[in-house]
Amino acid sequence: MKIFLLALLLAVTISSIESLIWVGDFANFASWPIGNPYLTENREIVNDPKGSGQKVLKVKYPAGSYSSLPGNKGGTGFFVWPFGTNIIQHATLEFEVLFPADWDWVKGGKLPGLFGGRTSCSGGDMALDCFSTRFMFGPNGGGYAYLYVSKVANHSAEFCALTTAPNCSPDWGYGIGGSKYFDKDRWIKIKQLVKLNTPGRQDGRLTIWVDNVQKFDFAKMVYRTGTVPISGIAFETFFGGNTADWATPKTVYSYFRNFRIETF
Ligand SMILES: *[C@@H]1O[C@H](CO)[C@@H](O)[C@H](O)[C@H]1NC(C)=O
Repeated sequence: MKIFLLALLLAVTISSIESLIWVGDFANFASWPIGNPYLTENREIVNDPKGSGQKVLKVKYPAGSYSSLPGNKGGTGFFVWPFGTNIIQHATLEFEVLFPADWDWVKGGKLPGLFGGRTSCSGGDMALDCFSTRFMFGPNGGGYAYLYVSKVANHSAEFCALTTAPNCSPDWGYGIGGSKYFDKDRWIKIKQLVKLNTPGRQDGRLTIWVDNVQKFDFAKMVYRTGTVPISGIAFETFFGGNTADWATPKTVYSYFRNFRIETF
């Protein structure tokens, strides 16, 4: 028994040198290393509606809201920087999301994912020093990763065949890894692995799991043309999409819990 405990202690010590684990518990949300918050009025910490006893984040999406509506008032956002001074090139992010029984997917919307560099990285700029790998929900419980990467990235033909971007054009983001991810009325765990590419090479990796089942794996990713590392979590959720047909027709709520990052 003592030898087992010693071995366990040793294993934990060794692994903590090579990896870093950050756990986001909404009971301690005030101590999360966050910044750049917006639409804070649409989020609150509540008891898990499924009765686990956990504190979870409840997000409001008012009727008519979608991301490109001028003055959009739907959903919420903030960024999490969990790595301190560490330069992180490989990480997994997982969290759980609950869409209640009265949820309407409409055409889809954003969900959290990893990001690197500037928080303002978007479909409208060159993204030379930033990237993001947010998830999205889509019609009928579909899901996918929605990538912003450097617009001068040299993508592989395999990547271009997999993405939803027309002609692999960098005009907006790259949807990739899509399939049925979500049901309503139960907690669903989604996880992404991001291994950044070597600048100038097509050797990055993106892997996606839903409820521990692998949904996607691709090892010729180009996330960056420079050396930008993984900065943390872009917690962003809203409907859209840049046209009004992405808007939620009624006020709906989602819930989030159990954020966890591991680096390797
Ligand atoms: C793009 O990457 C491929 C594969 O590594 C390489 O053969 C090609 O020369 C690259 N093209 C440019 C413009 O860098």
